[in-house]
Amino acid sequence: MKHWRIEDVAWDRFDPTKVDPDLVPLVKAAAMVERNGTDYAVYLNRVFGDDPDFRQAADYWADEEVQHGDALGKWAMLADPSWDYQSAFARYKAGYKLPLDAEASVRGSRTGELIARCMVETGTSSYYTALGEAAGEPVLKQICRHIAADEFRHYKLFYDHMRRYLARENISLLRRLRIAAGRIGESEDDELAYAWHCGNEPDDTTYEHERCSAAYMARAMAFYRFHHIERGMGMIFKAVGLKPRGRLSDLSAKAAWQLMQWRRQRIAAKLAA
Ligand SMILES: [Fe+2]
Ligand SMILES: [Fe+2]
Repeated sequence: MKHWRIEDVAWDRFDPTKVDPDLVPLVKAAAMVERNGTDYAVYLNRVFGDDPDFRQAADYWADEEVQHGDALGKWAMLADPSWDYQSAFARYKAGYKLPLDAEASVRGSRTGELIARCMVETGTSSYYTALGEAAGEPVLKQICRHIAADEFRHYKLFYDHMRRYLARENISLLRRLRIAAGRIGESEDDELAYAWHCGNEPDDTTYEHERCSAAYMARAMAFYRFHHIERGMGMIFKAVGLKPRGRLSDLSAKAAWQLMQWRRQRIAAKLAA
C-alpha cells in the first residue's frame, strides 16, 4: 500500500560534504514525532471504533508515518554516526504519551478530530517541502520529497473522511475554525519540543519546555518561504470550509508570514539573551 519504500531511497548517493548542519537536529527531532505514528493510530482506532473503513485507512496511514521516522532516522545516523535513532526514540516514547485510553475525540467530535488531522498534515506537508527545497544533500532531498508527497495525500485522506462526518455532525464554521486554530497553536506544545530534547540533548540534560521549544522553532522557522505559508493557508481554509484561493486567504497568508517573521526575531533575541 505504501507509495515508496525505504529501500527505494538511493542511500549510496549520500554525500557527507553536502550535509547542512542546521538541518541535522531538525531531522533528528522529526524522526521522533513521525515514528510515534503507531500510537496515534491506536487513539484513532478507539475514536472511530465503529468505522472499519477509516480504521483501516488509519492503520495504513500510521505505517507511512513510521516509515517517515525510519527514513529520517537512518539519514540522521549517516549524517551523524554518533547518534542512535532507536535509543533516542525509546526516550521519546517513554516520556511523551498520547491519550490512548480516550473513548471519544479530544476535539469534541469526529469532524473536529479530522480537521485537527488536516492541520497536522498541512503542517508536515509544508515543512518537508521547505526542508526538501533547502537540503543540498541529495539523499535528504529525495527523502523529504517522498515524505512531503505522502503528507499531501494524508491531508486528502483526512479531508475526504472529514467531509463525510461533517454531513452527519454538521458542526458550525466557528467551531471548525476554533478547532483548526487550537490545533495549530498546539504546535508549540510538548510533542515537538520534547522530540527536540530527545533527539538532540544528552541523557543527563533535564527537559525544559521553553528552552527546547525555542531551540526547535528558531531553526525550523528559518526554512520556510512565503510560498509554503501561502499554500498551507489554502489547505487550512479548505479544511474549515472556506474558499482556499481568494482575498481572505491571501491576506491571512501575508499576516501569518509577518507573524512568523516577528516570532522568529523574538525567539532569536530570547535565545541570544
Ligand atoms: Fe509524516
Ligand atoms: Fe502525515
